[in-house]
Amino acid sequence: MAKKSKTNDRRQHGNGRKNVRYADQDVIISTGGEVHQTARGETPVLTTQQGIPISDDQNSLKIGTRGPTALEDFHFREKLFHFDHERIPERVVHARGFGAHGYFENYESLSDITKADLFQRPKEKTPVFVRFSTVAGNKGSPDLARDVRGFAVKLYTKEGNWDIVGNNIPVFFIQDAIKFPDIIHAAKQEPDRGFPQAQTAHDNFWDFISLTPESMHMVMWIMSDRTIPRSFRFMEGFGVHTFRFVNAEGKSTFVKFHWKPKLGLQSVVWNEAVKINGADPDFHRRDLWNAIQMGDYPEWELGLQLFDDNFADRFDFDVLDATKIIPEEQVPVKRVGRLVLDRCVENFFAETEQVAFCTQNIVPGIDFTNDPLLQGRNFSYLDTQLKRLGSPNFTHIPINAPKCPFHVFQQDGHMAMMNPKGRANYEPNSWNGQGGGPRESPEKGFQSYSAEEDGAKVRIRSETFADHYSQARQFYISQTETEQNHIAEALTFELSKVERLEIRTRMVSHLLNIHPKLAKDLADGLRLKEMPKAADAAKPTREDLKKSPALSIVLNGPQSFKGRKMGVLVTDGVDSAILQSLQSALKKEGATIEIVAPKIGGVKASDGSWIEAAQRIDGGPSVLYDAVALLPSKDGATALANNAAARDFVADAFSHRKFIGYIDAATPLFAKAGVSDNRDEGFIALKKPTDCSAFITACRQLRHWAREANKAPRRLNVGA
Ligand code: HEM
Repeated sequence: MAKKSKTNDRRQHGNGRKNVRYADQDVIISTGGEVHQTARGETPVLTTQQGIPISDDQNSLKIGTRGPTALEDFHFREKLFHFDHERIPERVVHARGFGAHGYFENYESLSDITKADLFQRPKEKTPVFVRFSTVAGNKGSPDLARDVRGFAVKLYTKEGNWDIVGNNIPVFFIQDAIKFPDIIHAAKQEPDRGFPQAQTAHDNFWDFISLTPESMHMVMWIMSDRTIPRSFRFMEGFGVHTFRFVNAEGKSTFVKFHWKPKLGLQSVVWNEAVKINGADPDFHRRDLWNAIQMGDYPEWELGLQLFDDNFADRFDFDVLDATKIIPEEQVPVKRVGRLVLDRCVENFFAETEQVAFCTQNIVPGIDFTNDPLLQGRNFSYLDTQLKRLGSPNFTHIPINAPKCPFHVFQQDGHMAMMNPKGRANYEPNSWNGQGGGPRESPEKGFQSYSAEEDGAKVRIRSETFADHYSQARQFYISQTETEQNHIAEALTFELSKVERLEIRTRMVSHLLNIHPKLAKDLADGLRLKEMPKAADAAKPTREDLKKSPALSIVLNGPQSFKGRKMGVLVTDGVDSAILQSLQSALKKEGATIEIVAPKIGGVKASDGSWIEAAQRIDGGPSVLYDAVALLPSKDGATALANNAAARDFVADAFSHRKFIGYIDAATPLFAKAGVSDNRDEGFIALKKPTDCSAFITACRQLRHWAREANKAPRRLNVGA
């Protein structure tokens, strides 16, 4: 028989407890000094998952105060058991992502081209959930990895869920889904060592790419600044594949989907991306969260490229080849509605983590084409989601369930939440009206487009897919000089991380088929001892494809500072008139301001008012902002000049081609940051409050790219 515990070990809840105050919080401390907070007033009582009220959540049940833990402590066991099983497998690709709710509103009826219910009535609003993601990195990887961004949209239409599972790049690496495991294996961390994480700058990736010429068009996109977007809000999205619209008469029109950001396109530069990853690895998710919380709801327009069989037959490339675009100048993008994100998730796991997008989720009026990449995707998503979410019933999770009525005969399985009611779980049945369940509908039901298909069963890639370089060249020549240089720099950076010379050389041999200047830049950048011969091409590069200005980020900027963020460095004595004028000019523009100060508690301004800081100087480097203003007092600037973080603030803003507003007192900072001799038109003197609006006008260009091009920057006098 167990020995009886001593009386003081049987101390009941309440004995030896003291009420104490921790600043604003009244708490109770108990015998061991541990803190208790108890339910009062509106605060609910903590319970187990079975609903049993809990008396003490700080101590497990022990035999004696210093004795072993009792197995009968069901609360303790339940708590640990549940915690032990909190993780589910992360997505095999696109593991890191961030989602938000909103709606899609179409401008006009599209009933002539599709019978899809959501496009029938002008101004119809359809609820949506959108998840943005990176591809290669694991769930905890940084946001500013150089990577393709996923742009997946789930539209909860009245005739079922339609998912446009797209990316921020309109083409893909490979043409046939059978190569997807290979490209992803090659891109992710190398299997023996488990690194590098979230980057393609390693041998395996470039080894695969340099042996896969079909990826060369995509290589141009991923080495451009498209893969280091400033914000999800400033990115385009693309459905990539050619789909079909089908109208009520059964007529098919080919369609490619585009999302066009209302705030225009914007990316960061590579050196900035690397630093953002250190300063704020959650930069993109924080940006989206903050914008929505502030009521500055991001918007995109849905654009359609519509074309018929005739165009498809005439077009230079195969419309089933996902490594090709149709230039917007050839088939214009018709804007048919807007996507607005206006609600953050309430629970990241329940919504962003558990959402399951799938290319096969389409609705009547929309259909697939034979794009072999799309056909493979249609299998892969459902298959992987069964593993990831653990049950075929993941469609019961609210984020995945349709918002229209649905009736199925599927039943049971792990975690079944909504088994069909009634006696019949099969059809046909004769329980009509007595629980017999739903029936098919030839009128309303999804009808596949009756495309004519025939041919021998072969494992052969179509010859119409064989041109690998022409559109890569077209992309390259469509960029501004700055953007072309960024592509060359990115390739040089990545290939400089590749250990094997033969892989670097192989890549340059492909670049020769894209553009001689690009190949030469790389050969110089990598210091190849000799230029290789151009890779043998399945088809020669066409040089007659015209430039497509729609492919440039710089040419598609917003000409506005709306939605952007200014970092303002202040110290005690900051000129309050200039600060206020800057604040109101930014507000008028629709931009935000963040005060960066030597201490988080804030500063005392010249008029005696107190200015709260949002960041301490080392927590708010200039890489987090689109432009900066330097408003220290004279004494403040002298003190900051000895602060490494303040020097970096200025030096980085300069080297990332940002617009810099400043008052004269900031001059010592320029000297310490090494930019005194390089002040150009991107430096705007704020001598009086009215200068602020000219500063914001300059900021509308987003970056002072001329600084990059200027080999010998023009000197400007302070305040000029
Ligand atoms: C045009 C090419 C492709 C695009 C645009 C694309 C896009 C995406 C996006 C946006 C996601 C993330 C969805 C989310 O946020 O939950 C995703 C996930 C995924 N993709 Fe793709 N993908 C492409 C090609 C492929 C191919 C060819 C395959 C396989 C054959 C594939 C397999 C997967 C898998 C397995 C996931 C994880 C899904 C999950 O766990 O929920 N993707 N893809």
